[in-house]
Amino acid sequence: MPAKTQTVGATYQVARQNKKKDTMPITILIGAQWGDEGKGRVVDWLAASADIVARYAGGDNAGHTVALDGEVYKLHMIPSGILHSDVVSVMGNGMVINPVNLVREINVLRKMGVDITPERLVISSRAHIITPAHIALDKARELALGDNKIGTTLRGIGPAYLDKTGRAGIRTGDMLLDVEEYAERLVNAIELSNEDLRSQGLGTLDAREAAHSYLEAADFLRPYIRDVSIYLYQALKAGKKVVCEGAQGTLLDIDHGSYPFVTSSSPTAGGALTGLGVGPLFVERVLGVAKAFSTRVGGGPMPTELHGDIAQHFRGSGVNFWDEFGTTTGRPRRCGWLDVVMLRYAVSVNGLSELMLTKMDILSGLDELQLATAYEIDGDRYDYPPVTNEQLERAKPVYETMPGWREDISNCRHFSDLPAAARDYIRRVSQLCDVPIDMVSVGPERDQLVLKGTSEGLPTAAQAM
Ligand code: IMP
Repeated sequence: MPAKTQTVGATYQVARQNKKKDTMPITILIGAQWGDEGKGRVVDWLAASADIVARYAGGDNAGHTVALDGEVYKLHMIPSGILHSDVVSVMGNGMVINPVNLVREINVLRKMGVDITPERLVISSRAHIITPAHIALDKARELALGDNKIGTTLRGIGPAYLDKTGRAGIRTGDMLLDVEEYAERLVNAIELSNEDLRSQGLGTLDAREAAHSYLEAADFLRPYIRDVSIYLYQALKAGKKVVCEGAQGTLLDIDHGSYPFVTSSSPTAGGALTGLGVGPLFVERVLGVAKAFSTRVGGGPMPTELHGDIAQHFRGSGVNFWDEFGTTTGRPRRCGWLDVVMLRYAVSVNGLSELMLTKMDILSGLDELQLATAYEIDGDRYDYPPVTNEQLERAKPVYETMPGWREDISNCRHFSDLPAAARDYIRRVSQLCDVPIDMVSVGPERDQLVLKGTSEGLPTAAQAM
């Protein structure tokens, strides 16, 4: 089939057959904004030419959505690669795992026809376990912060990572212990957190009852647990292709995000290495995924946030699964123009080799589009985010206006099919961030992708890995 007329579906098939062996085997995929960039569907696409897809950070605070043949799969902890029958999914040591919710997620996917066995899903023995006490503490801390709350997903993420770094956590490998020993660790950990809850005047947990469901989950998960770092090293040495699936986004990173309005893990590219126990020399590419506009859930500064009709246009009504309401919490997301200052920062922090823009179709129907190319703070111009959150709160975006387009672009499959204004928008973002953009998405389905390469000789899916 000539390149010009080759559809994404066809390139996808070619990708499955052409697992290239002459490049380094790891592709890291990260969110370049505040999460919810559409990483799940991009990983799903990359998985076509991979052997392993590995999640390296976060837990069930994430919600990765993949639409496939009329079904919508919502993945919270399990990597999006699970939807490919010949791909192994790996959950890394950088994750925090709620075992009861993980068993539930596996069972939901199995009911939808997804085959999940210990041969297809590997869980690190060094990930940390989220207990019911972590969830109770997450809620208690948010309550205590009042108006200054982070706006967490209330999944116990922060308290679990706090126990990890405080060297008081329970690890997935502990599920391999003698049942009595594991039960005792759980009960002790919950009792310890009960003291915290009690001191805040809050209700405590029945440690024995809470531990019971965790013992059941341990029976289920035991065969899936192993040393992921060694597993991946051996796979990489054998020439297997690995996609590292980031969760959340660069601007929610514990070190590089707008602290303290961040999550407690490292979603950036560096986190992939520590979160899986792999070395940097295996990495070939670092791909960033960004929405064609900005969204954020929870508190913290968002310089390009909008409140009127345009925010509503971006958010949608909530009837479609791709509307801007949290996959995990259902909260409406804050929406605004594309913030190029933040994207530039993401390119720099992650060393992105390329950027993909998602949800371009949502921009259709607007007369004009704005790109925040810099900030003005106290009379000074900033091309990168300022050092403090206080300055960021005062940042006034410097906008560049671009013409919009009215056409529905959801059926476009080649860069040249897009209206000129859409092509100009993509080129301008690429130029402002100094990074190539070779792929955009124009709808939620697996094949609703526009690959620049299919009409202009740039990379196609088959060449992507
Ligand atoms: P936590 O990760 O639940 O502690 O939440 C900390 C912050 O990260 C809050 O602002 C959440 O809304 C945000 N957050 C966590 N996970 C996601 C995600 O998957 N998408 C978008 N925002 C997230």
